Amino acid sequence: MSKSKIIVLDDLAQEGLDLLAAADGIEYEVLTGLKGDDLRGALNKFDGAICRSGVKLTSEILEGNRRLKAVVRAGVGTDNIDKLAATRAGIVVMNTPTGNTLSTAEHAITLMLAMSRNVAPANQSLIEGRWDRKKYMGSQVAGKTLGIVGLGRIGLAVAERALAFEMKVLGYDPFMSKDRARELGIEPFSTVDEMLPQIDYLTVHTPLTKETRNLIDMAQVEIMKPGVRLINCARGGIYNEAALVQGLELKKIAGVALDVYESEPCTDSPLFGMPGVLCTPHLGASTEEAQTQVAVEAVGLLTEFLGTGTIRHAVNVAPIDPKTLESLRGYLDVAYRLGILMAGLQTGGAKSCRLQYRGEITSRDTKVLNAAFAAGLLKNALDEDVNLVNAELMLQERGIELSTESSSEMGAFRSSMTAEVATDEETLRVTGTVFGQSMPRLVALNGYRLEAYLDGCLLVFTHKDVPGIIGGVGTVFGKHGVNIGQMAVGRAGDQPGGDAVGVLNLDCEPSPESLEDVRQMNAICSAKAVHLPKAGELPPWLQS
Ligand code: NAD
Ligand code: MLT
Repeated sequence: MSKSKIIVLDDLAQEGLDLLAAADGIEYEVLTGLKGDDLRGALNKFDGAICRSGVKLTSEILEGNRRLKAVVRAGVGTDNIDKLAATRAGIVVMNTPTGNTLSTAEHAITLMLAMSRNVAPANQSLIEGRWDRKKYMGSQVAGKTLGIVGLGRIGLAVAERALAFEMKVLGYDPFMSKDRARELGIEPFSTVDEMLPQIDYLTVHTPLTKETRNLIDMAQVEIMKPGVRLINCARGGIYNEAALVQGLELKKIAGVALDVYESEPCTDSPLFGMPGVLCTPHLGASTEEAQTQVAVEAVGLLTEFLGTGTIRHAVNVAPIDPKTLESLRGYLDVAYRLGILMAGLQTGGAKSCRLQYRGEITSRDTKVLNAAFAAGLLKNALDEDVNLVNAELMLQERGIELSTESSSEMGAFRSSMTAEVATDEETLRVTGTVFGQSMPRLVALNGYRLEAYLDGCLLVFTHKDVPGIIGGVGTVFGKHGVNIGQMAVGRAGDQPGGDAVGVLNLDCEPSPESLEDVRQMNAICSAKAVHLPKAGELPPWLQS
């Protein structure tokens, strides 16, 4: 079996590289500092990528990528990756959310203390030969009030440490219950602006989003206490840098400590060198411990994904754990095949799909089956690869609604799934199930019960249930050298003469002439050939 190829796009701790070197079925290359066409070209030669914040994976870089299946960010913030573009390209984006929490929280505390005690300028003045004890009078943090915006992993680790320093801690996070905040010793607020007039220090620990960009602007600086000190170890842009400069000049702000900047790398800023300002070059996670941990976690996530399809810590798709994947393997295949079948049978543009799950299968997480069905439905329609990651987004972007229903009651089968697709012209309905462990079967088609193999080349025809139809179709295909492997028919009610459907598994592709001859037969109403994967052939994203 060919090896999966991994590209490492930013510096990664040696422990991570050692794991890559030791991983079975993996080859890797470290190619840092890539940009533009070099980056785009390189990504097309690898199955997985590991990055930190240095490389920028924009929509232009990811567009049209046909090989890359996953990117893992060794760290938390994935703002250097265009997640929508990745999803569209079918690329899973994962991160390592916990590996650098403590190091970053410690850095925020370090900056708060060092800023309060003028550590950097005092050190500089000593180096320059001065003994300035008066000039560097500091401020004690014990007894002061710290406001924290964002009470996630890092925000809470900062709160815990600040409480140990005997600070009063206030907090704002719309996704943290007030009761939980109180339990943790944090006084919760309903808005940032309510909290600001009460604090001596402010630290932010949120992602940079539409809501958090410029969260602290001049209007917020104005309502803060004079002498406030601000720390940012999250993302540049949460504090408006121009407002920080103005607040410092007006002496409203006593100190600013930044690890992150609106634009990075940042080597030139009006803030650099201003009194009361302490800056580090994005060092929050730069400890040996954090870098080892995120590197090891990132390699683990990527090799597991490439080996088994397991998705953990994804930021653009729902997680898929190995147990779910294994237990749904047969139905993922059925869902995918039903999707392809529907696309092959439908006339007119699809408007909506309804999936109904029935029986034992409903006790599992069937969401992934929706994606598998969508991937099948769009497989032959789109130029790009459609997989579990991008299929639902692709449907949404095409305005095709997907809804689901579940009933734990068993029907004729222990489990089954029915797909209904409404187009401008008709509504089609198919039901599939798995026989044994892995044999996909079509068990109903537009209300007719039957039992057909869901693999290879299928001829699906509707006809009047009169004598001679099956023989006639066989004769036509015989004349054209097409062998029939299997045959299934279903009819309305028990009486002959009514409407009926037939599904033939053909051993080779029927020519257009043979199909036309079938369509010309008396009593045949319609006939379509649909190509499904061969028996046992799993969709590419299920192969491991
Ligand atoms: P997290 O997901 O655990 O926590 C983020 C918190 O922000 C969540 O609780 C969320 O509810 C809250 N939040 C989101 N929008 C908000 C809003 N509008 N107002 C208030 N709260 C809001 O993430 P984390 O691991 O704690 O990391 C926080 C940030 O720190 C990340 O964005 C990451 O990029 C950054 N970070 C920086 C460094 C560094 O080197 N400086 C290292 C690690 C992480
Ligand atoms: C992160 O989001 O994890 C940090 O910014 C640290 C890093 O750059 O890796």
